Order: sequence, then structure tokens, then C-alpha cells
Amino acid sequence: MTATSTAANTEAAENASAIPKILYAVSEVAPFVVTGGMGQVVGSLPAALRRVEPTLEIAVVAPLYQAVFAHYGAALEHVGTVEVNLAWRTKGCGIYRTQRDGITYFFLDNSDYFNRENCYGYYDDGERFAFFSQAVLAALEAMQFVPEVIHCHDWQTALIPIYLKTLYREKYPQMRSIFTIHNIEYQGKYTLDILGDVFGLGADAYPLVEYDGCLNLMKGAIVACDRLTTVSPSYAEEIKAGGGYGLDHIINIYAGKLTGILNGIDTNLYNPTCDAKLRVNFDADCLAKKALCKRELQTLFNLPVSPRTPVLCMVSRLVPHKGIDLLTTIIDDLLKENLQLCILGTGDHLYELFLSDLAIRYPEQVVVNIAYNAEISTKIYAGSDMMLMPSLSEPCGLAQMIASRYATVPIVRATGGLKDTIKDCRYGEGNGFVFSRYNSNDFLQTIRAALGLYNNFPEDWFLLMKEVIGQDFSWDRSARDYLELYSTLT
Ligand code: GLC
Repeated sequence: MTATSTAANTEAAENASAIPKILYAVSEVAPFVVTGGMGQVVGSLPAALRRVEPTLEIAVVAPLYQAVFAHYGAALEHVGTVEVNLAWRTKGCGIYRTQRDGITYFFLDNSDYFNRENCYGYYDDGERFAFFSQAVLAALEAMQFVPEVIHCHDWQTALIPIYLKTLYREKYPQMRSIFTIHNIEYQGKYTLDILGDVFGLGADAYPLVEYDGCLNLMKGAIVACDRLTTVSPSYAEEIKAGGGYGLDHIINIYAGKLTGILNGIDTNLYNPTCDAKLRVNFDADCLAKKALCKRELQTLFNLPVSPRTPVLCMVSRLVPHKGIDLLTTIIDDLLKENLQLCILGTGDHLYELFLSDLAIRYPEQVVVNIAYNAEISTKIYAGSDMMLMPSLSEPCGLAQMIASRYATVPIVRATGGLKDTIKDCRYGEGNGFVFSRYNSNDFLQTIRAALGLYNNFPEDWFLLMKEVIGQDFSWDRSARDYLELYSTLT
């Protein structure tokens, strides 16, 4: 062994001891099961951390939903069964394991709770995720993965930091928890009377989880966790100052443990140079080929194939905070312009109806897919010219980063992660179009500015596309920030 390699090994060993062993506990993880951004983040961050710190011990644990078993059952190895106590209930929990890209994934099974068609949306979600949270802690030894830090995500796993401070305080006194808020709007709020009966907590936990006359699991996690993070620096500020959906006060009290770390995207998964979902690949040096993706998109959706008609897209959950109201307000004015609009997403029934109806009213201009479909979304990102994201609030947002990767120019409202990732090209160097006030007129004027550049200054538009595709939205920097945060917990 050479002197240099000995030094490198010693350094690696020192780093290894500085960064604790981590378990991610989460209610969804790509590619196994994903309904939104959190699943994508948890699906790509562990591998990114490992790339930066190859000695890191990290695993992920999630519920074994019906769909996971259906698609990945053959790859799952049964590693044991434990009994989980949840208040007066004792329930069995099967433990399964698989490896993917060097990361170990555990899935916890209880068919009453998780062998269902969807991940969320059931009357007993509170009980289901309380069971999962209890099961994670009960299963650690059987999983043979007892971490030093459990990193929990959103309200579904908010009970884990709470259980660590109460029911598991004696068993795991040294175990630390991190709680990441992907969206503060969904807090896991329940009536006070189920504290013991459903969550299995004693009266001593009441001050921890009570908030504003309810049980609020996210509030409990904010108080109980050792470190609190959210998914962009701007969102970390916003949730302290009016954007906390009622939790601002609590966030302020615990602001000392809060950090905003910007999400990244999996740049291997979203890669226009070799994405197999595209018939034609392109990169920054042969951007002209993007036109072929546009042609493919227009053909796929039976839109008039017209290279100079700008295609605008929106790939989004159809829920109020995504700013769908701004779009519905301006839509008839917007569609007077020469443009095509592709929308992909699922969500609130009224939005789904409105948009489906829009596609019927404007068959030459509008295509709406009420679906969550990775293949179609990639074709839309690659084939569009602009992407709309007029969010009322946006903790981070991934769509603007994915669109950029395919040289599609984002038009966004300056909020949360959108503010941190997109700068307006009208005011100096920029990689998109940005408006500030949540106002339909500002949204329309901003789209018109983008259309003006596209229609009248094609060369400038081309330069803008180059700037957009050149942005680095990989995990690299943020992975280092997370590692630094983890190292403060040893
Ligand atoms: C949630 C947020 C979104 C964020 C994602 C991943 O879906 O609404 O803004 O990008 O989580 O953290």
C-alpha cells in the first residue's frame, strides 16, 4: 500500500466515523412507488449521498403497498416478521428487503393497512401511518439495520421523532432524528380523542402533539426532531413568515434547528442525451434536434404539426397551491395567442373536469392527460418550448428543473424553490421568466413576454435555451449539505 493510499484510507475512515448510519423512513420512494416530488427526492438522494461519500451506510424503509408487491415482489427477499403494538392492537409486520443501485430498501408489510390500491386517501390514514411509524422502530433489529439517525419525511412519518422521544426513549436513547418538510400544507391533523387509542401515546405526549385544538403530527415532529429541514432556502424563510399554514409560530420557536436545502434531480434519469423514452436525443450542442421531439409530441397528441407554434406545458398535480386558478382565469385570453398547451396531471376533480372540458373546447390547441405517467411526462418536457409553474406556494418544485434539463424554458412564480432556481432573463442573466405577485394578469403578461421573445427574436430564444439546459440541478451540492448536516449529529 502506498503512502497516499494509506492517507486516503485514513481520511475515508475518519469521514466514515463522522457521518452517522442513516435510515430514511418515508411513505413513498421512486421507482417503487411514487405519487409526487417527495418520492422522487427520496428515490435519488441516497445514491447521490453515496456518490459523494462512498462509505456512507444508508438504507430506506417504506410501506409495502399493493403496487410495490405487484411490480417488485419477485425481487423482494423476506427477512423476518415482527409484532407491532399500536395502542391495544398487536399486528404482524413482514419485513422485506431488496437492493437497487447499491442502496438497500426495506418494505414493511401489513396487508390490512397497505394491500390497497392507493398509497393515501383512506379514512384510516392516520392509523396506517402510525402503524408504519411504530413498525419502523419495532423492526430495526430484525432488519439488522439499527441507524444512528432516522431521517423522516412529511407527516406520514412524523410520529417517528415523536415515538423516539416517548415510547422508544429508553430503547434508543442515542438515536437522533431529522424531519424534512416537503410540504407544510399537509400536517396530519386529527381530533384530540385518538391520542391513546390510535397513536398509542400517553397523556405525557399531549403537549408535544397538541396544536390549536387538534393533534398535529407535523407540529409534534417539528418539536421532537433533532434537526429540521425543508427543501429550499426560500421555503425555509416563507414557512416562518406567513407561509406555514398555521405552523409559522412553532417553526419560529424551533428556527434554530431549521435548514433549507435545495432538492436536486436525478440527472441520469432525466438525460436528454440518452433518454430512451425519446425517439430523438439531443444535448446543448445539438439543440436543433429538440424540434424533432416537438414534432413527435404534436403528432402523438394529434395537434397540428407546426414547428413555429410555441408549445406550452404544465406537468403538475392539479391542486390549488400549484396555481391552477391563475391558469383557469387567463385561459381564454391566453388561447387567443398562437400557441399549443399540453397538460399532464391528476388531482382535484373540479380541475380535472375544467381542463378536460378545455381540451374539448380547443381541440386544435389544448391536450389534457389526466394521469401521472413518467413516459408521457418526459415526452412533454422534451417536446415543449415553455413550462408553466404559477404556484401559489412551492416548497421546491422539481418540474422546473426537469424541464430545464430538456431545454424547456420555465415560466414560474417567485416562491419557495422556484425563486431559488429560476432567474428572470428580462433583468440580466436568467434562465426563465418569473413573476412575483400571485395575480393572473402578471402571469398572463409574463407568458406574453416569453411568447414575444420566442416569436420575434428566435436567436435570443436559442441562447436562452442554451442557458436553461446548461443549469446544474444535480444533487451534488445539496448532497454535501446533507452530509454536513448529518455529521453534526454524531
Ligand atoms: C412536495 C413539494 C414540492 C417538492 C417535493 C419534493 O411535493 O410540493 O415543491 O419539490 O415535495 O421535496
